[in-house]
Amino acid sequence: MSEKVIYLDHGASTPVDPRVLAAMLPYWTEMYGNPSSSHRYGRSAFMALEEARAAVGSLIHAQPEEIVFTGCGSESDNLALRGVMWAARANGTGNHLIVSAIEHSAVLQTAVQLRDQFHFDLTILPVDENGQIRPDELAAAIRPDTALISIMAANNEIGSFQPIQTIGELARARGVLFHTDAIQASAVRRWDVASQPIDLLSMAPHKFYGPKGVGVLYVRQGIDLISPLTGGGQEDGRRAGTSNVAFAVGTAVALQLVDQELESRAAHYQALTRRLTTGLLAAFPEDCRQTGHPTDRLPHNASFAFRHLSGNDLLMHLDMAGIAASSGSACKTGNPKPAATLQAIGLDDAWTKGGLRLTVGMQTTQEDIDYTLEKLQAIIGRLQRLTAVY
Ligand SMILES: Cc1ncc(COP(=O)(O)O)c(C=O)c1O
Repeated sequence: MSEKVIYLDHGASTPVDPRVLAAMLPYWTEMYGNPSSSHRYGRSAFMALEEARAAVGSLIHAQPEEIVFTGCGSESDNLALRGVMWAARANGTGNHLIVSAIEHSAVLQTAVQLRDQFHFDLTILPVDENGQIRPDELAAAIRPDTALISIMAANNEIGSFQPIQTIGELARARGVLFHTDAIQASAVRRWDVASQPIDLLSMAPHKFYGPKGVGVLYVRQGIDLISPLTGGGQEDGRRAGTSNVAFAVGTAVALQLVDQELESRAAHYQALTRRLTTGLLAAFPEDCRQTGHPTDRLPHNASFAFRHLSGNDLLMHLDMAGIAASSGSACKTGNPKPAATLQAIGLDDAWTKGGLRLTVGMQTTQEDIDYTLEKLQAIIGRLQRLTAVY
């Protein structure tokens, strides 16, 4: 086992920034009231919650009442899809939903459940070899009864951005709502929902140095949602349950820091992932390929496929060398099946089990990258020799 440890799984989660933690702490021990209570403890918690909501809103150019705090990114996606589709059925405004083939399972499984258990119509759009949808195929898939298009801003496994401006314009021209899962992209992108054609947008602060256990869903004013979580009417009836004030405060601070530091973070990430990608492709020109779009991609995500190798074997050996990585999305680690995303971008069986995702962060250094490259070359060489023997 190695002494040195390097965390290259920031796409799965990030450490909480000490500035975020400091802002959250008082809401556990001093201002711990329930924001729905009318006494002074409740009122101070309520004020903090509403200030956090307003801050998140203003950072993405939304009104405070358009921001819903949820329990995680998955819940934001669930609320967007189920909430819009149930309301569309109740209002008689639509029965058809469109998603892409490489959505995170928080979207894809929700869409499939809406189809299989609730009898909505679902179109799953294919993607091209770079992992991007083709706008003409989207245009052809829109029907008079299409209620919602849900396409992610950036893919968690292969890092590709989607053409969300084009998608949103298409949706708007056809009178269809557009939700984007911006859970990965929000670490490196600013949003201006007042001018962008986006109707619903999901974020998860634990991807950008905020806490786990909280998510955000932006819902454009006037959009009708039927909430899957009913109860005390919190979040304007869109998400029942006592609000987590500390996490809402942490969300606002983490997003504020993304806004302030975005350019320097992105430049740092880009330099590291470029070094990693160039190094790996040069070392294994035949047996390693970059997955996802070569340039239109998350700057902190370097993703690869290795021919005739198992991503899980790679992860195990990397872990023994002190390097934490992922074979795709965190949720799929340990699953030996071919990666659906790699199949969706057209890779054949020789490549689809050999996915590797390395996601860098603010603390990652050039030395970490060089060390990782050195270890990876040794590990891959060893695994290739083993594969050749058997
Ligand atoms: C694109 C995307 N969507 C949804 C999720 C789910 O977010 P959470 O784990 O906060 O529920 C993730 C997490 O990896 C993600 O990357």
